[in-house]
Amino acid sequence: MDFFLVGTKLEDLKGDAIVIGVYKGMKLSHIGERLNHILEKKLTNFLKNIAFKAEVENVTFMPLEKTGFNYVLLTGLGEKEKLGPDEIRRASASILKKAKELKLKNISYENLGNDVFGERSIEWLVEGVLLGDYRFKKYKKEDEEAKVERINILTDQKWENFLKRGKFLAEAANFTRDLVNEPGNVIRPQDLANIAKEIAKKNGLKCTIYDEKKLKEKKMRGLLAVGQGSHHPPCFIHLAYVPPQPNRRFVIVGKGITFDSGGLNLKPEQFMKTMKCDKAGACAVLGIMKAISCLNPSCEIHGLIPAAENMPGGEAFRPDDILVFKNKKSVEIHNTDAEGRLILADALIYASDLKPEVIIDMATLTGACIVALGRFTSGIFSNDDKLLNEILKVGKECGEKFWPLPLDEDLKEEIKGTFGDIKNVGSRYGGAITAALFLKEFVDDKIKHWIHLDIAGPAYLEKPWKYYAEGATGVPVRTILNWLLKEDGTRS
Ligand code: BES
Ligand code: ZN
Ligand code: ZN
Repeated sequence: MDFFLVGTKLEDLKGDAIVIGVYKGMKLSHIGERLNHILEKKLTNFLKNIAFKAEVENVTFMPLEKTGFNYVLLTGLGEKEKLGPDEIRRASASILKKAKELKLKNISYENLGNDVFGERSIEWLVEGVLLGDYRFKKYKKEDEEAKVERINILTDQKWENFLKRGKFLAEAANFTRDLVNEPGNVIRPQDLANIAKEIAKKNGLKCTIYDEKKLKEKKMRGLLAVGQGSHHPPCFIHLAYVPPQPNRRFVIVGKGITFDSGGLNLKPEQFMKTMKCDKAGACAVLGIMKAISCLNPSCEIHGLIPAAENMPGGEAFRPDDILVFKNKKSVEIHNTDAEGRLILADALIYASDLKPEVIIDMATLTGACIVALGRFTSGIFSNDDKLLNEILKVGKECGEKFWPLPLDEDLKEEIKGTFGDIKNVGSRYGGAITAALFLKEFVDDKIKHWIHLDIAGPAYLEKPWKYYAEGATGVPVRTILNWLLKEDGTRS
């Protein structure tokens, strides 16, 4: 699919369809003016008869004559006062879906939302189209879906930067989605390492892989324990983007469980299905590192991935095991299915040793977070409220939802160990919080800006939602990229 900025002169344009955005309660003469006055009445009558509500994701169409287009497609934008970036994404994506149904090849969008946001809206329109177009169809012999080949946007060519940005962000997310959607028999820990190496080679990043022997030297006890029940050994991946004179240093960490069977505390069948998604944090880190290296920011960015498969093989770690971590804290295993925090513990110790300004970890960490916030919202935890609020704001703009949960010290009691310092699970209550408190034990006190994102819900969908198809969403790639770029000053 190709995008073109084609200027604003409708008369010169031809194609299968022209796309017009409609606000709730909007006078339709406005639309008529743009097409031509003969159409106006026809369109108004048409709309009267079909009761078009103009809610976001409402779409309708009418065949056209005497113009360069065969159809006019209308997309609801909801109330003008409530229009935000995600309404624009949803509107552009629902049009794409309709265009595919109608087998249209070439569609021209008016610059949706431009009257409210100026030319930045192009970015969101493009994101909506590309995120909405995404399907994981590598293993399908037949592709049932029609393809839209050409997208025109009615705006001046000088706004090309916004088009590029929209593409850049959506492609980064879609890259991550492709990795997360790969099943556990295709992506093993070593495969994540190979993908990281490939990204590094192509994009001039530094890449270090620690194999099992090195993990022992580095005392990565959590990663070794979690990985030992699988035929496919664990590894630790360190990708680094280091510009000539870096002004700041950031670290991102992603949970890389290529499949989570639960280990000896085996998951019941309804919870095991979809557990290929347990590497979503890791794949987000890969997507972000790949994207960032194309932009040459002036800050240093490290991407860390502890990678393992959580399986119940003969060598598997067990309940009652006690692991002594590199920071001397001992952990009593109560449930082998709470494995994410164990591999992240090693990664957070390693991250702290890099002495960065900020650490952001992302992980499909707890079912409890989904219970607390629902399937569409990630939990966000931090020792820095200001940073947390910044990320909330960027997330909102990206259409990736986060909601703060507290690092409630009163709940620390829940993870106090009997024979070890701490245990790897708390009670039934506040499971997302006790997991975050566990992680905090491994973030050095000197790190003043730490963010933990529990993406267990939104990273992977069991049904389509908004512009996302069933499967991986790429959350939180767009939020973190946008935030990093903002921090770097690449975007004000
Ligand atoms: N990978 C799961 C969490 C998860 C659940 C991710 C649903 C995505 C969707 C994690 O390793 C896990 O199994 N957590 C347990 C922890 C429990 C044993 C304390 C959980 O949430 O049930
Ligand atoms: Zn688990
Ligand atoms: Zn897991």
